[in-house]
Amino acid sequence: MKKIIVTGGSGFIGSNLVNFLIRKNFFVINLDKLTYASNSLKNNLRNKKNYKLIKVDIIDKKKIIKIIKKFKPKAIFNLAAETHVDRSIDGPDNFIQTNINGTFNFLEALRYLKKIGINPKLIHISTDEVYGDLKKGFRSDENYKYEPSSPYSASKASADHLVKSYVRTYKLKAVISNCCNNYGPFQFPEKLIPKIISNILTGKELPLYAKGKNSREWIHVEDHCEALFRLYLKGKIGESYNVGSAVNLQNIDLVKKILKIFKNMKIKIEKKSKIKFIKDRPGHDVNYALNSKKIYKYLNWKPKIKFEDGLRETIRWYLNNRNFIKSISKRNYEKRLGLKV
Ligand SMILES: NC(=O)c1ccc[n+]([C@@H]2O[C@H](COP(=O)([O-])OP(=O)(O)OC[C@H]3O[C@@H](n4cnc5c(N)ncnc54)[C@H](O)[C@@H]3O)[C@@H](O)[C@H]2O)c1
Repeated sequence: MKKIIVTGGSGFIGSNLVNFLIRKNFFVINLDKLTYASNSLKNNLRNKKNYKLIKVDIIDKKKIIKIIKKFKPKAIFNLAAETHVDRSIDGPDNFIQTNINGTFNFLEALRYLKKIGINPKLIHISTDEVYGDLKKGFRSDENYKYEPSSPYSASKASADHLVKSYVRTYKLKAVISNCCNNYGPFQFPEKLIPKIISNILTGKELPLYAKGKNSREWIHVEDHCEALFRLYLKGKIGESYNVGSAVNLQNIDLVKKILKIFKNMKIKIEKKSKIKFIKDRPGHDVNYALNSKKIYKYLNWKPKIKFEDGLRETIRWYLNNRNFIKSISKRNYEKRLGLKV
C-alpha cells in the first residue's frame, strides 16, 4: 500500500484530504501539532486501519526526519499552518513560527533526506491571499505579483518563496497550490460559513464586517482535494497552480444565500439571527479572485460541485453533526478578534 504524509491533517482541509486519500487506498500518516484548530479526525474516518496520527510540530526537524525516514512516503501534502487572519492580527508570532520557520525547517528536513536518497514529492498548500487586494473584475494568474496584506498572508507568501527557492537551489520535488476560500464539512466555526451556520443554529446574531461588500471566491473542499491529487499525479515540479472556481460572492450575498437555504429547508430561524454589521478588520482586503486557467488547461482539472449544491450539503452536514460544533464550543472562537492594532 502506498504511503502518503499529510501535515495538518486534523484541520479542516486536512481532514477532508485524509479521508479522500484513504478512499483512494493510500496509507495516510497525519503529522499534526493538534492546535486549537484541529478536530478529532479519528472519530470521523471511514477506514481507521489505513491511518496513523503522529502529534508533532513541523518545526521539529529531527522528528520530521525520523518519521519520513521510517515511512518513506510517495508524497507529502503540507497543510500545517496557522490560518485565521484575525488571529494573525492579534498575535502574528505563531504565524511566523509555523508558517515561515516551520516550513523552513520542514524543507531543511527534506533537503537532508534527499541527500540520503529519500525524495518524496511535496505538494505545498498556499492561498489566493498572497496576491493581495485585487481591483474589481481582475483575476490574478500565477505570474501576478505577491502583495500580501495581513501577517497571515505575508507568512504564507514567505513560505511559497522558500519552497520555490528549494526547488531551484536544491532540486527538491515540490509544487505549490494557491487556492481560494474553501467550504465544506469539518471547518472550524471561526470562519465565515460555519460561523453563520452555527450562529443560526444557536439563535445568535450574524456578524458581518463593515457592510459585507468584501468579495471572495469559493470552492468546495472536495474539489480542492481532487485538485491537490492532480498536483500529486501531474503537477510540474517548481510550478504554482491557482485552484479556483471563478465563483465570487460578496459576503452579504453569501449570508443571504445561507438564510434562504435554511428557509427552504423549513428550519426555524430565531428573530435574533439577523445580519449585524460590525467594525471592519484592519487592512481588510476587498477582493480576491483567481485566474485558474493553467490547472484547467494543463492538468485537466475543473471543480465539479455547483456552489448552491455544495452549500446546501454543507448546511445539511452541520445539521447532522451538531456534535462537531459542540465539541469545540468551549474553545475561544466567539470572542471578537483582530481589532488590536
Ligand atoms: N481554509 C481555506 O479556505 C484555505 C484556502 C486556501 C489555502 N488554505 C491553506 O490550506 C491549509 C489548511 O487550511 P485549513 O483551513 O484546513 O486550516 P486549519 O486551521 O483548519 O487547520 C490547520 C491544521 O494545522 C495544524 N497545525 C498548526 N500548526 C502546526 C504545526 N506547527 N505543526 C503541525 N501541525 C500544525 C493544526 O493543528 C490544524 O490541524 C493552510 O496551509 C492554509 O493556509 C486554506
